[in-house]
Amino acid sequence: MSGLAGRRVLLIVAGGIAAYKTHELVRLLRRAGCGVTCVLSDNGARFVTALSLQALSEEKVYTDMFSLTDENEMGHIELSRAADLLVVAPATANMLARMAAGLADDLASTVLLATDTPVLVAPAMNVRMWEHPATRASCATLAARGIRFVGPREGAMACNEFGFGRLAEPAEIFAEIENLLVGPRPLAGLHALVTSGPTHEPIDPVRYLANRSSGRQGHAIAAALAEAGARVSLIRGPVALADPPGVHVVRVQTAEEMLAACRAALPADIAVCAAAVADWKIADVAGHKMKKSADAAPPVLRLVANPDILAELSRAGASRPRLVIGFAAETDDVADNAQAKRARKGCDWIVANDVRAETGIMGGTENQVSLVTEAGIESWARMDKSLVARALVARIAATLGSEKQSI
Ligand code: C5P
Repeated sequence: MSGLAGRRVLLIVAGGIAAYKTHELVRLLRRAGCGVTCVLSDNGARFVTALSLQALSEEKVYTDMFSLTDENEMGHIELSRAADLLVVAPATANMLARMAAGLADDLASTVLLATDTPVLVAPAMNVRMWEHPATRASCATLAARGIRFVGPREGAMACNEFGFGRLAEPAEIFAEIENLLVGPRPLAGLHALVTSGPTHEPIDPVRYLANRSSGRQGHAIAAALAEAGARVSLIRGPVALADPPGVHVVRVQTAEEMLAACRAALPADIAVCAAAVADWKIADVAGHKMKKSADAAPPVLRLVANPDILAELSRAGASRPRLVIGFAAETDDVADNAQAKRARKGCDWIVANDVRAETGIMGGTENQVSLVTEAGIESWARMDKSLVARALVARIAATLGSEKQSI
């Protein structure tokens, strides 16, 4: 998903048959976690109702029928100030002309005049209106002022004509909003698989073996990959963290379950194995709670090796992700051990960190990593785990981007 979570759009719905498509646009924005306030023009209200927009946006819809002088209402200045982006969809020829002329004779045009927030317009009108020199002139004026356009598209129109004038599809308007608010999405179209957190290996129905991993770094990487436009499957062991927005989450407990979930998530373009997978599991898990007894000696736990998920993904043959990244949590000789691990596991990169207790890294909010690639080792500054995640994702994007160009 999307970096749109927590952002706000003010959607101005002008008159036109295509106004019904704004329902889908509002739905897409809300699903991405974006707040939407709608302003419905008088003409727009002939095609869609304030009630339907209110139900979908879960917010009050502003129309000219409400007095903005009422203290309880939000004034037109506040309306636009609260938004990160103003979107006019559909933008009729009349609306474009009024915007170009700087009219402020209803709520929608007043909000548009009283703002310095970026504006995106999605025109929709009859092909002759779109091609008319008056509309061309309005569009040229608006474009020169920095107003962004999405569409119109070519196609059949409600008036039985064919040509340019159809409103861009809601998904296209949504993608443009994302582009404007979040920036370019270099990993769009790619699928990333991320493992995160510890695994719990049962001893009996109430006890398990675990480790101190918080899942913070893996979760931050999943969020950063999603922000960069990737479709993300996050396979997470038991952690106390909230799921990152817009990420497909699979919850697992054991290493075996994590491996099965990874296999099920393939094919993937990118795999980031940030989980602290238990190296061993109990050979014979007791079916009932093991009882202590004053007479008997404490039980001896026999361990057997867990599958190595990173190694398996690295040698997955035709379904091997193009870029497989592992982590190395080391307490000494971090650089040498990480290089050796890269070769042993067969992965492309290793993100190595020093997890000695005094670093506070394991379970903490900051990380200090070295990136080990075929080209060598780079040491990064100590920073918040979310910044490490963004820096790693920027490297992933640069690498896969240059691969794309060389194809
Ligand atoms: O061998 P070691 O545990 O040090 O390797 C760490 C890396 O291997 C991490 O990327 C971890 O997610 C991955 N790993 C794994 N499955 C295991 C053990 C480690 O995917 N059973």
